[in-house]
Amino acid sequence: MKHILTEELLQSLTADTPSISPKFFYDDIGSHLFDVITLLDEYYPTRTEKWIMDTYQRGIADAVAHCDVLIDLGAGNCAKGSQLFDSIAPKQYRALDISKEYVEAAVADLQKQFPQIEMSAHAIDLSLPLAFPDLQALRKVFFYPGSSIGNFDPEKADQFFMNLAQECYESGGLLIGVDLVKDTQTLHLAYNDPLGVTAAFNLNALLNVNRLIGSNFQLQDWEHHAFFNASLSRIEMHLRARSDVQVILPGNGSQDHIISFGVGDLIHTENSYKYTQEHFVEKLRRAGFADIQCWTDPNKYFLVCFAKV
Ligand code: AVJ
Repeated sequence: MKHILTEELLQSLTADTPSISPKFFYDDIGSHLFDVITLLDEYYPTRTEKWIMDTYQRGIADAVAHCDVLIDLGAGNCAKGSQLFDSIAPKQYRALDISKEYVEAAVADLQKQFPQIEMSAHAIDLSLPLAFPDLQALRKVFFYPGSSIGNFDPEKADQFFMNLAQECYESGGLLIGVDLVKDTQTLHLAYNDPLGVTAAFNLNALLNVNRLIGSNFQLQDWEHHAFFNASLSRIEMHLRARSDVQVILPGNGSQDHIISFGVGDLIHTENSYKYTQEHFVEKLRRAGFADIQCWTDPNKYFLVCFAKV
């Protein structure tokens, strides 16, 4: 694993645009820092999505109508998924996450509270196609909250939606939350909070990479840099070199690699795409969803959609 990650990071860090994948944010510290981000006044998405889900619970449940299997894509602690149990009453709950251990523990706890729902936990990699051959005849509701879709490049998001629309097999749909385009200042503050939690979240990727592959990134050499790229409609997060920096990536057995950065050089760590409602609905339609219902908040900061095949 260490070898594969070293290869991956060597590739991405020496590319024309150096990058570290956002998956490297989420070690134990990073997952906790993200939880703190969701509590910040400046970070409106989590609280706004919850407001929409709570306020329109009835309407959302009516749109979903009937659910044999609730498939939670990126379930984590299963908190958001289990919030739907009362209103949409799934017969089965499948919790998927990159961290199998984490999601298994959460499902084991939840099963005690909801013995009538058949539950299972699975590891997934959402960059690969999904297939649920054993659930073909059942009405499936895919659940993808939190604007996680924002991390996908638009073409990748299209592929992902097509994959899900196909996996619905004539019945079911996708319940998804996505962040909307809004004034630049609000967007900027959500990723540049004055307390510096987002900066810590971004910088922590370097600590995680050091731990995973034994590299020697020094935090004092890097600073958080996040801005809204209006022409691509995305927040970009980067780490910017504060001086000339050399980093050693151990070669494990073979030669070590030294990567040099000049002052001001950037490592791209995340894109967080923002959509308009019209554009997002159009994407879902193009992917094969026929009927799309939407709910939003009074400020139109965030959007929840149920897209039916
Ligand atoms: C978890 C991808 C939805 O893009 O807003 C929060 C991650 N990055 N602050 C987002 C994140 C910086 C978050 N997503």
